[in-house]
Amino acid sequence: MFRSLLGVPAVSGSLVSLAAAGQPVGELIAEDIARFHASQAARDAMVPSFSLESPMPAIGDVPAAFPVEVSFATEDGRFVSQVGIEPGTSLYGTGQAAGDLLRNGRRTEHWNTDAYGYQDDSPLYTSHPWVLAVREDGSAFGVLADSTHRVFIDLTDGIRFESEGPAHPVIVIDGDSPQEVVTQLGAITGTITMPPKWAIGYHQCRYSYYPDTRVKEIAQGFRDRDIPCDVIWMDIDYMDGFRSFTFDPEKFPDPAGLNAWLDERGFANAWMINPGIKNESGYFVYDQGTEIDAWVKTADGETYIGNVWPGDVVFPDYTIAEVREWWGGLYEDYMAMGIDGVWNDMNEPTTFIRDENNEIVEATTFPESNLYRADTDLGGPGTHAKYHNVYGMLMIKSTREGVMAANPNKRPFVLSRANFMGGHRYGATWTGDNTSNWFHVDTSIPMTLNLGLSGQPFAGPDIGGFIDAGTPEMFSRWMGFGALLPFARGHTQTGNIDKEPWSFGPEVEATSRRALERRYRLLPYFYTLFEESSRTGMPIARPTFFADPADQRLRDEDDSFLIGSDILVAVQTDLERTSVHELPTNTNGVPWRAFDFPDFDGAGRDSDDPDQPELYLRPGAIVPTGPVIQFVGDTPNQTDELTLLVALDHEGRAEGVLYEDAGEGWGYTQGEYRRTRFLAQRQGDTVRVWRDPMGGSMPAIDRSVVVRVLGAGTEFVARGSAGEGITLIVPR
Ligand code: GLC
Repeated sequence: MFRSLLGVPAVSGSLVSLAAAGQPVGELIAEDIARFHASQAARDAMVPSFSLESPMPAIGDVPAAFPVEVSFATEDGRFVSQVGIEPGTSLYGTGQAAGDLLRNGRRTEHWNTDAYGYQDDSPLYTSHPWVLAVREDGSAFGVLADSTHRVFIDLTDGIRFESEGPAHPVIVIDGDSPQEVVTQLGAITGTITMPPKWAIGYHQCRYSYYPDTRVKEIAQGFRDRDIPCDVIWMDIDYMDGFRSFTFDPEKFPDPAGLNAWLDERGFANAWMINPGIKNESGYFVYDQGTEIDAWVKTADGETYIGNVWPGDVVFPDYTIAEVREWWGGLYEDYMAMGIDGVWNDMNEPTTFIRDENNEIVEATTFPESNLYRADTDLGGPGTHAKYHNVYGMLMIKSTREGVMAANPNKRPFVLSRANFMGGHRYGATWTGDNTSNWFHVDTSIPMTLNLGLSGQPFAGPDIGGFIDAGTPEMFSRWMGFGALLPFARGHTQTGNIDKEPWSFGPEVEATSRRALERRYRLLPYFYTLFEESSRTGMPIARPTFFADPADQRLRDEDDSFLIGSDILVAVQTDLERTSVHELPTNTNGVPWRAFDFPDFDGAGRDSDDPDQPELYLRPGAIVPTGPVIQFVGDTPNQTDELTLLVALDHEGRAEGVLYEDAGEGWGYTQGEYRRTRFLAQRQGDTVRVWRDPMGGSMPAIDRSVVVRVLGAGTEFVARGSAGEGITLIVPR
């Protein structure tokens, strides 16, 4: 595999030295990362990148041995960049794509779209003009067309980006493995920051819970039934006439009181804020924005008037720093109501077309000729065609900054429907308005995985489906695996049937409880993975082929997925249970070990429930799990009691890591955390398990530990103290 010659620039044969007018120009911007331009003129005209976390100047020439070549052309008025692929190359990424995980042969449009009830290959809410290519031998490269304009990604013959904008640079990351490429993507586009721990619990939403007494009823419903849940969501009906930053005086007379009530019962809250501001003088947000002339303009320079939930609306021009600061400042009083999480929606941005009866007939976006007065550091004034795809990203950047200024000692949690490559730095996302049908059940896994391969690890579907009722069987199945995706939230639309875990009767309720208990048992591991992701950019949910990128059998596996690198989740995504799962076999003859947990009633195992996916542990892995709790601050404290799942490899060894911190605040950035490695080693018929503190200023604690060494259809269990280590008999 190519290794860059940093410090020893390859002069002869490099694209830069060959560059002349009209010839492609390449430059190295980091080790193993090159940026190509259509010509020197295109390079000179390069605009600031939204994807990159910070500008990346050239550090040298592209060595002649760089294994990926980019060619450029203009065809039918579109700017085209292309990369050829060798036979046997599998293509992934392309962000939020409906359909299968494997993207070979697909053509998708990347233009943020309110895609209510989307189909296979529809343009969706977020845009990631990025493709991850895994060669036959398991080595990999990634290609980013660094354009904010509408881009079509055509993977029917190699990798081809067609843009409606001007020439774009193409960034190519070369790596020994897909993991290396994804990590490098994180290095250049940034990583998520640690979410507050409650955000990795289960979330319950609907459009909308109201009035506030209904919110309390739902929250109490979880506690009364012992179904774990951390967050209750307030959708648009809490607002006064759908005006962002207001509260309906009748339905929500005391939002601070409601948040305090929820907090006392261990619930965090999240509330929605939309960018479309009611066009109405006297409404403080409208008046303040008008005062600073905050609004997006038409081609004629008039304030553009769109139409969303409140009727006629104006839209903040987030490309202006002053507007972002003003918008961020609106969160000061808002967060003071005890608000924990913020949900920014409709920020593709979406505007409605209504008929004469005021019914919504179409969701669309602004005219492409609309004008933004963007600051120079973002690239200067430009049209909607240029800034459309980053509208949501800039909105949530501003929201996040405002939320952080309002609550400087807390970790922000922002959920956004629209986003762009790199926007994972500001917020999590979900897969939008899906439908309760089996296509959407099936596609929720690959959509989440491809987002993770495109830099956005914090994602998941509306569990149970937003549109339509679905069936009890469908809900159960969806909850079974949806509870194990990084962002786990149930949601449904206005007018639809209830979709709380108990809404479909006792059987579905029991299945939901099992699924959520699994998530909560796995929280120590999930949290460890979020921390890893925040440092490295590695996804939390990963495609099964990550376990063995050279194994062709795994390349199109998308009814199964990995949590981290150690747990494989094998899902039946249809009613007939036709999914056949290929398991990784690169483990020297030791199979991945099936495991489950005791059922909540103590009488059986959760795996007896056919709607729970099968779980497997990688040989060589130790996964830390905790007791079932009802919310992250609940007792027993998960840090006091651990169950280690152990699968020995062919040499009788295993290891795994547990990361812990306060779950909130910034102490961890000052070293206030505890990272512990657990190791296991067989000697004859005994296995010894011990811990090895790996860093952080939180002292090691002498907790009680249960060790489960998994074997073929059997397991060996012992209890002891982490400090002293545990030895158990495990006959060969
Ligand atoms: C959009 C969102 C959906 C939300 C609804 C009302 O359709 O995608 O999640 O419930 O708006 O705010």
